Amino acid sequence: VALSSTVASAAGYPERSITMIVPFSAGGPTDTVSRLVAEAMSKDLGQQIIIENVGGAGGTLGAGRVANAEPDGYTVLLHHIGMATSATLYRKLAYDTLKSFEYVGLVTDVPMTIVARKDMEAKDLKGLIDYAKTHKDTVTVANAGIGAASHLCGMLFMSAIQTALVTVPYKGTGPAMTDLLGGQVDIMCDQTTNTTKQIQGGTIKAYAVTSPKRLDVLKDVPTAVEAGLAGFEVGIWHGIYAPKGTPAAVTERLSKALKVALKDPNVAARFAELGTAPSPEADATPAALKAKLESEIARWKPVIQSAGQYAD
Ligand code: MLT
Repeated sequence: VALSSTVASAAGYPERSITMIVPFSAGGPTDTVSRLVAEAMSKDLGQQIIIENVGGAGGTLGAGRVANAEPDGYTVLLHHIGMATSATLYRKLAYDTLKSFEYVGLVTDVPMTIVARKDMEAKDLKGLIDYAKTHKDTVTVANAGIGAASHLCGMLFMSAIQTALVTVPYKGTGPAMTDLLGGQVDIMCDQTTNTTKQIQGGTIKAYAVTSPKRLDVLKDVPTAVEAGLAGFEVGIWHGIYAPKGTPAAVTERLSKALKVALKDPNVAARFAELGTAPSPEADATPAALKAKLESEIARWKPVIQSAGQYAD
């Protein structure tokens, strides 16, 4: 009976609103991406996707919530590269990264920016690095907890300059940005989704982008490699997941809605403004997300292990 009811429900899916867990605070870059995509997906699905922010522990609390939810297609997770890095960073998680989820598809590729409070004295990245090294016991680096994209980039930055700075964790880089704007923290590495408008408005200072090439929306900001950090490239990607056991008919239906959303003119326009690129249609599929997650776990494991002393 259970099987037939699951199959039947998949046939009429979705019959009610869907909850999308965003594992970081409202107002941050993951939240921004999620609300844009969820709104466009809702149109195709004919049912509302409701965002629920579940922050904490670098995104792993929210991921755990979805891993343990009913596999009926009415609870999904939108998460980023942290899904891969947390598999190495955490000895114990409330889920098994590769066994607790079904896959829907890849959503975006987002570069990061190394930014500072607007009155930071340094004129360029070299100056910022010198400042950080000479004030290493007082310079604060904001992040969204171990497993966050800002944590990964901050760890790589401290490893690149061989200097441990004071890290200040938040439940998302939305609240972290509030403190950066207020000058309560000094430095952050955060996604363009959250920093582009602030940089353009001059309310924070940008020192580098972590993409291979400069960004159209931030033409004057050099890449980290141009600015002297050889090999420093970090790309953030987002995926949508469902609890293990969610019927394939459901994840395929969600993947279809995701493809439609990524072609939505409003989504594409907003993404472009924020330096964010929607995933190609072929990547908005379960198989593409599964492959990406597996390859990214393997890619970042040795990097995290070698930079470990900066991963606090
Ligand atoms: C957020 O949405 O707050 C960010 O993704 C946090 C992070 O991963 O740095």
